[in-house]
Amino acid sequence: MNSTEPHRDIPPTDFELLIAPGLSRRRFVGGLGMTTLGAFFSSAIPARLLAQTRSPLLGFASVPASTADTFVVPPSYTARPLISWGDPLFADAPEFDDTARQDAAAQLRQFGDNTDGMSFFPLEDGRALLAVNNEYANIDRLYPHDGSVISAEDARKAQAAHGVSLFEIRATADGFWQVDRSSPLNRRLDVQTPMAVHGPAAGHPLLQTSADPSGRAVLGTVANCSNGKTPWNTYLTCEENFQDYFQPGDASTTFSERHTRYQIPSDDLGAQWYRHEARFDLSKEPHEPHRFGWIVEVDPFNPQDTPKKRTALGRIAHENAALLVNADGRVVVYMGDDSRGEHIYRFVSRERFDPQDPAAIATLLDHGTLYAARFSATPGELRGKGEWIALEHGRNGLTTDAGFADQAEVLIFARLAATAAGATTMDRPEWIAVHPQSNSVFCTLTNNRNRGVHDTQPVDGANPRAENHYGQIIRWTPAGGDHTAASFDWDLFVIAGNPAVHKSGLYAGSANITPENMFNSPDGLAVDAAGRLWIQTDGDDTNEGIFAGMGNNQMLCADPATGEIRRFATGPLGCEMTGIAFAADSRTLFVGVQHPGEDGRDSHFPGGGNTRPRSTIMMVRRDDGGVIGT
Ligand code: FEO
Ligand code: CA
Ligand code: CA
Repeated sequence: MNSTEPHRDIPPTDFELLIAPGLSRRRFVGGLGMTTLGAFFSSAIPARLLAQTRSPLLGFASVPASTADTFVVPPSYTARPLISWGDPLFADAPEFDDTARQDAAAQLRQFGDNTDGMSFFPLEDGRALLAVNNEYANIDRLYPHDGSVISAEDARKAQAAHGVSLFEIRATADGFWQVDRSSPLNRRLDVQTPMAVHGPAAGHPLLQTSADPSGRAVLGTVANCSNGKTPWNTYLTCEENFQDYFQPGDASTTFSERHTRYQIPSDDLGAQWYRHEARFDLSKEPHEPHRFGWIVEVDPFNPQDTPKKRTALGRIAHENAALLVNADGRVVVYMGDDSRGEHIYRFVSRERFDPQDPAAIATLLDHGTLYAARFSATPGELRGKGEWIALEHGRNGLTTDAGFADQAEVLIFARLAATAAGATTMDRPEWIAVHPQSNSVFCTLTNNRNRGVHDTQPVDGANPRAENHYGQIIRWTPAGGDHTAASFDWDLFVIAGNPAVHKSGLYAGSANITPENMFNSPDGLAVDAAGRLWIQTDGDDTNEGIFAGMGNNQMLCADPATGEIRRFATGPLGCEMTGIAFAADSRTLFVGVQHPGEDGRDSHFPGGGNTRPRSTIMMVRRDDGGVIGT
């Protein structure tokens, strides 16, 4: 979701003052590794020259910014819907009803709402399994009414629209794909699906509730934002804005920082589940929110599998999980916590990944060390060094005296632990993607428009703008190419901006931003097999004021080596683009179009006419069947 804010004069930051004088048409160069100001002054490359670079990786013609209610791809590409909210996932499921009268039971047999992160698991014979997050429900579109008053049945229907949809797809003669409703692998996870708690916090008293005195058996997953995929073929679904589902039934209930740091109780009153289900009522079950905000591992090939909440990875507003196997065999997971002034995390497994040892794999994500990142800027530069701070009880200030009784409390309150240990506050970390060819890691810092809310969010090298309406993508490379190393070097790959509105300085963006490719609020992020970096946006799509010329939310493709960024696709009105998966042969790209018509925008995507707008997964193919992006 995003909000529209009026155009206003933006004061320069210290960093901007450093580079602004005399640089009217020259801007910070992010993509060429020339990020020191010294290098900038001595050998600055004008932005226009960079814009003319023709990356050998990017073989498509860019598309213009759009304000149309359509999904646009480059010439010689075609996009088609695969599945939309409410489409049946099972042979006995009802078809979508555009009057939105289907009940909760029907919704639970249909594709959930707000398609988000997804993974493609290839099967044999032109078949594959798609695992897709359904992040939340558009309650103003979910019912025949406007969703302002929610009955118990309405709440149950909304819950059924959340979670994960798993379904088999088959390639058709023309290369596109279709859902196979008859597959025994098709499955829905929702807010009532039994799940197990694993790792150091399992069974902890802070996870116990009146319905579950064991602290190990949770009902459901919620706010499933983005995802990860393991080399042992499981799916990781990441619980992000879980705080929005908990409210106190008794207004006099008080809360400590252990709740409020997670924005509990939430100021989002839309869900209203607490009126109908006691576990969402904070006055009755203050521990229930401790059971959400985790990364959940799902075996997509076993419909009987009980999903596992992996507490060793910490409890935050998890965006995605960028998982890799380090050269030494240990598993590393990079994770962003998407909230203003929150942190970036890394998990390093204790054991090494052995493909021949399924028993060890079953607990690989339960034992290891969670870290949070500290970014230090070289004075006056937009790059620097960084270090990983271990979030281990008894180390780095995480003691009983400091409020952490044991390691489980460090993990349950990872935000508090990371801050206490000295991690850097960031401009809303969203997706993280690892670029295997260079060993570098990219993270979208989507925006931060209200820095003043927390006095703990300084303007610094990694987060250099006081009013960050546009966002940036930070890149780090671990020391020695070892993702378990204690330190790294970082720079800013791109600073999004508007060079048509701001003629110079950081609000114009880095030199790889031009009037032709500009965007705001980078969010989704993925690296394809050839090393292209794909960027999706979830930003201000008013196309007005400081956002003029950017149009609807979009998808871009970058060459990490040259820094060139080219717009690949534009979405319909009021949508965000989120969710990226490639078929195994890289010849179909699956793209999530989430919440078209948000904020009352007049979208009828994808059905057209007078139909209700529906979140939809689009399939994109080259007309000649070639590799996407080439
Ligand atoms: Fe679900 Fe931060 O996006
Ligand atoms: Ca996101
Ligand atoms: Ca976002």
